[in-house]
Amino acid sequence: MSESFEFPVYKRLDLEIVEGSGSRVRTSGGRELIDFYGGHAVAALGYRHAGMLEVLREQAERLHFQTNLVELEVRHKACEDLARLAPPGLDRVFLVNSGAEANENALRLAFRERDRDKVVAVEGGFHGRTAAAGACSHGRESWYAFPRAPFDVVWAPPDDRQALAAAVDDRTAAVILEPVQGLAGSRELSTEFLQVARVTTERHGAWLIADEVQCGMGRTGTAFAIDAAGVVPDVITTAKGLAGGFPAGAVIAPARIADSLPPGALGTTFGGGPLACVWISTVIEHLEASGFLERVRHLGERIRHSCRIGPVVDVQGRGLLLGLRCDRPATQVLAELRHRGILAGGATDPEIVRLMPPLNLEDADACALEEALADIPAKETS
Ligand SMILES: Cc1ncc(COP(=O)(O)O)c(C=O)c1O
Repeated sequence: MSESFEFPVYKRLDLEIVEGSGSRVRTSGGRELIDFYGGHAVAALGYRHAGMLEVLREQAERLHFQTNLVELEVRHKACEDLARLAPPGLDRVFLVNSGAEANENALRLAFRERDRDKVVAVEGGFHGRTAAAGACSHGRESWYAFPRAPFDVVWAPPDDRQALAAAVDDRTAAVILEPVQGLAGSRELSTEFLQVARVTTERHGAWLIADEVQCGMGRTGTAFAIDAAGVVPDVITTAKGLAGGFPAGAVIAPARIADSLPPGALGTTFGGGPLACVWISTVIEHLEASGFLERVRHLGERIRHSCRIGPVVDVQGRGLLLGLRCDRPATQVLAELRHRGILAGGATDPEIVRLMPPLNLEDADACALEEALADIPAKETS
């Protein structure tokens, strides 16, 4: 490519994508790749989805934008759909634009409700790059440029129930965690750990915030990942696949939290815009269709069982948020996979290849992944 006018803040792949269809994308050089990266878990229904295109066009022609100061039927519907998808009792929705913004607002609400100064977060967790969300993102020291965090953060190692219970006290406004940690490499937190998070937060009057920005919206084979543990948090945040690629995030909370907020307590210009809303409703319509989430679970199980092959020594994660643990640096395996027509992602764990493809992936795509992995030569031993 010629001179770039963008900030050089991404380590770009040597790849220009020009179009997509279903689970496949095409490069400027005319190569087709199966997109196991999913635009970073965003393209929930893949590319050029006929239903999504139809509602987007129809809405854009009718009314492409309006402010949150007016009623919008499509916003009302998107919030109603999301409340129905969420665990019972979480039936109020505040729509924003991104995952970080959703977490920033959830944390703001937790502090607003109580006079406390501390958050408990989990090592390996990532919650975004804004001031509060970034403060609870593990390893922030490498990129967080603010002089200090806005509150104290105490870290608990994943699945260390004792450390978690000991970290939560009467100064704690909230525990924030990803039920399946995405950037860490699709690492599941155990049911027992999530249960301890619920019990200890309740005991100390703190909130449990489930960051489902990456693992929510059907990605792990249930509507939200925390559903599988039978734990109902105080707040769920979500984004990424929420609107299938239109920028959107959401804070989902019970009426007891939301209904006491005065006008002006939260706000956004673009959040809840009509184009995002019609895609939110379309994504949810698919998640709720008979057999859809069952298929996500089936594909996840299939990949878990059949992809322990070639360089892969273990598979972690759930549904279509999976981490392939490799016998060599993931960067090498990713390059080999790209060479064989598969686009996947990395993680902060350098030996994990992360899969987060469109949720309507075909069995043939999973089969192609298996074949590509099997085709990668064994690690060279010196
Ligand atoms: C779990 C989680 N939370 C929050 C974020 C931040 O979301 P965004 O990049 O939309 O601000 C991410 C982004 O990767 C994420 O994976």
